[in-house]
Amino acid sequence: MALKKKKTKKKSIAKKKIAKKSKSTTDKTILDEIIRVDHAGEYGATRIYDGQIAVFGKDSKIGKTIQHMADQEQEHIEKFNELLIEKRVRPTALLPLWNIAGFALGAGTALMGEKAAMACTVAVEKVIGEHYREQQDLLEDDEKELKKTIAKFEKDELEHHDIGLEHDAENAPGYKVMTKVIEIGCKAAIAISKKI
Ligand SMILES: [Fe+2]
Ligand SMILES: [Fe+2]
Repeated sequence: MALKKKKTKKKSIAKKKIAKKSKSTTDKTILDEIIRVDHAGEYGATRIYDGQIAVFGKDSKIGKTIQHMADQEQEHIEKFNELLIEKRVRPTALLPLWNIAGFALGAGTALMGEKAAMACTVAVEKVIGEHYREQQDLLEDDEKELKKTIAKFEKDELEHHDIGLEHDAENAPGYKVMTKVIEIGCKAAIAISKKI
């Protein structure tokens, strides 16, 4: 009887150990989705700023401000390009779509004016910033490096968001409707790019 009890105790300790181990390991499906969607998002971001710079020109005052953000997006996409290979993650099949949609969104808002372009930045960066925040809670101890990377990028995206606000985004015509529409679009793109 005593022996049985001892065995059960041993078993439950072993179970706890397994539970603890699995708790500190990031689920591979979740990890793949994070890298796939972040790569897609950063790619889309580079295309949005490409579209805006195409309209405003690199040498305009607003163009230089946008270029600063575009340079950071370039760093972000390069990191996720590396991560796709390192972690053997398939990129989203929808890159050609985000290529066109991102550029169209950037150029389209820029054609509406500087404030509209900045309103686009506010909306996009808000969604990406929040998304990066949430992802950090999904990464366990085995992905500390990635967690750090995402925390750094979150900071950059929030800086972009604030640059948008500082450049009078909120005074763009139809600011509320436009940012809502863009936010919904970004969230849909995130949901799709995780899986496809
Ligand atoms: Fe970014
Ligand atoms: Fe950004």
